[in-house]
Amino acid sequence: MDMWGFIPYRTFRNCRKKSCYQGLLIVSLLLTLSILSFNTHLLTQDLWSSSRYSGENLYPKLSDFGHHNRNLQNILPFESTRSHHQGKHDQRTRKSPNKADKLATNWNMTLTSKLSQAKVPSERGEDTLGEKERGRKRRLPQAIIIGVKKGGTRALLEFLRVHPDVLATGPEPHFFDKHYHRGLEWYRDLMPETLPHQMTIEKTPSYFITKEVPSRVYKMSNSTKLILVVRNPVTRAISDYTQILSKHGKIKSFQSSAFLHNDTNKINSSWMVIRIGLYVKHLENWLSVFPRKQIHFVHGENLVTNPGEEMRKVQEFLGLQPLITEEHFFMNKTRGFPCIRKTLNSKRGHCLDESKGRKHPTLPAKVISSLRRFYRPFNAKFYQMTNINFHWT
Ligand code: A3P
Repeated sequence: MDMWGFIPYRTFRNCRKKSCYQGLLIVSLLLTLSILSFNTHLLTQDLWSSSRYSGENLYPKLSDFGHHNRNLQNILPFESTRSHHQGKHDQRTRKSPNKADKLATNWNMTLTSKLSQAKVPSERGEDTLGEKERGRKRRLPQAIIIGVKKGGTRALLEFLRVHPDVLATGPEPHFFDKHYHRGLEWYRDLMPETLPHQMTIEKTPSYFITKEVPSRVYKMSNSTKLILVVRNPVTRAISDYTQILSKHGKIKSFQSSAFLHNDTNKINSSWMVIRIGLYVKHLENWLSVFPRKQIHFVHGENLVTNPGEEMRKVQEFLGLQPLITEEHFFMNKTRGFPCIRKTLNSKRGHCLDESKGRKHPTLPAKVISSLRRFYRPFNAKFYQMTNINFHWT
């Protein structure tokens, strides 16, 4: 009898009491358990070991994918790269599948679909994740079109979208005026994913007239570039009224809202349609927070008649390559507004929908001249403040 058989044999023979048997039983149970757990440890080691040598450190970090790591779906593909490669390794090195193989195969099967979506380097360390895709993530906007309502803000945004280095939100986020309490992460989630060299832009024209917005934007980033599209406040007011009319049907006539006591000499400046056109008042509010050089003014009328020139200035202000040129534009003769080609070679272009460029109601000449008179001093101050003469009559 060897030593390992002799010791338990002697112990068992010398055991006379019930408690002694129980003790022996516990010791043998513990021994069995530790042997089992040691085996499992070996299996697990074997299962994962080659991941250390399969180029794991070549994989990009989760953050490189530009995903939100709080999203579990985005974490799984990265985790799965180990089991996926290890699964292949197991298939090559083992003839008959054991328990560990089956485990790995099941694990792989559940993750294969995830992997097919994930852009990760191959086992050989090839970078299948295009260099360009690295760093793609949602960013807060570096530039905002802050207004003015009915100035041509949609046209400007649609034109800018053609630039390969610009990505923009579709709908107006209204973060700084209506949804500020939701926080910056909510705002960021609305933004499109961009690459580090690309620019995120949003437009919400009501920002221009909302008192709290300038300081809130400044708090987000004091380097935010601001763009304001302005148009003759008289035509802007009529355009605004036309939009309200098209949305709400029967409403009061323009005159009965624009004038107090039906007197064309007494303008109702508290009516929003009129108030928005007091550009100088709203601009004062912005200039108390942002330096003048951080605001670019787009000439609304010129954006219709000479979009190429306005776009050149906008691109310069935003620090973009001047890729959008006058060759991108062509005039839609029936509607009288420019449309844009996505590329210079494309035959078809993109025109704004029917809600832009509506036919305005004809107002009496007296109403128009009264409005012009009302806005004239405000416009003059606005030219001074911006150092631009917009030549509105
Ligand atoms: P109207 O519909 O009164 O003509 P916003 O996008 O800020 O709401 O501005 C709407 C205005 O954009 C339109 O007002 C229209 O005059 C102007 N606009 C400028 N460029 C345009 C374009 N290329 N297509 C259509 N409308 C354009």
